[in-house]
Amino acid sequence: MKWSRRFAGSCRRSGLVSDKRWWDEFWTREASAGPALEGDGETWHDLVWKVGLEFWHDLFEKQAPGRKMLECGCGSARVSQHMARRGYRCTLLDYSERALATGRKAFDASSLEGEFVIGDINHLCFPDGGFDIVFSGGVLEFFDDILRPIGEMARVLKPGGVFAANMVPRKVSIQTIADLERTMAYSCRALFQRRFGDVFRRVRYVPAYYPVNSLDLQDYVDCCKRAGLDPVVGLVTSPFPELALPHLGKKLYARVMKGLLPQWRKFNLSQSRWTQIWGITYTVYGIKR
Ligand SMILES: C[S@@+](CC[C@H](N)C(=O)[O-])C[C@H]1O[C@@H](n2cnc3c(N)ncnc32)[C@H](O)[C@@H]1O
Repeated sequence: MKWSRRFAGSCRRSGLVSDKRWWDEFWTREASAGPALEGDGETWHDLVWKVGLEFWHDLFEKQAPGRKMLECGCGSARVSQHMARRGYRCTLLDYSERALATGRKAFDASSLEGEFVIGDINHLCFPDGGFDIVFSGGVLEFFDDILRPIGEMARVLKPGGVFAANMVPRKVSIQTIADLERTMAYSCRALFQRRFGDVFRRVRYVPAYYPVNSLDLQDYVDCCKRAGLDPVVGLVTSPFPELALPHLGKKLYARVMKGLLPQWRKFNLSQSRWTQIWGITYTVYGIKR
């Protein structure tokens, strides 16, 4: 298999306008994304980030040969912020200027050092073998051809370096059931507020208009292996769904989640059949041969 090796002095490329525009609009809406959380957090969202950040930090500390990290499709750059605070030298790449501006703002707000690069994950503008870690979070599910971006990310890794990614797939999980609860809650609210046009609106964790692929975990694992990573671990993670709850309910839910943190961490590492059905997100990581 041949990877694209067209390097350029500048990472700016054309031909991606439509997708890039989608992400620019997305990051314009999300511009208020704050800095990465370091505490326990009070909500489902805070705790999901907390467990994720701990997972990546632990993995990189144990497996990476050094602390030079590249985050591809960095968006809010939360993972890089977390790692930069712990002494990692982070390069952050995204093809959306809006996304990079969001990440840079968060780095500046915490006085963190990072290198921000506009570029396309399909044609990384870095030489082979320069990074100890290459990470992408919430990016690969938006590609139909995942072999190309995974191949590029593996190419810029040093031998022994760690590739890590997570994805939010369109999969049947506990979130599918929770989405029924969310749909009912939003319908009731719409009815109460006399927004009759919204009463029958279906609420989905991965909205229908998100251009997400239909690949399963094994497809990601297979592509990582084809890209020269070995061993590769694939996990179905995240046992707690997002729910539509009133303020007090949100707090109580977060308290329950906090109380179950040890079981949550165990769930994320389990490769059993039931966690694969129940879990909401995919996590893959592998070592460059
Ligand atoms: C869901 S966001 C990722 C969020 C981010 N990891 C975070 O934690 O906030 C996906 C990101 O991937 C970027 N992206 C999508 N396709 C890309 C490509 N071909 N090259 C570079 N970045 C890309 C988008 O601009 C967007 O910022």
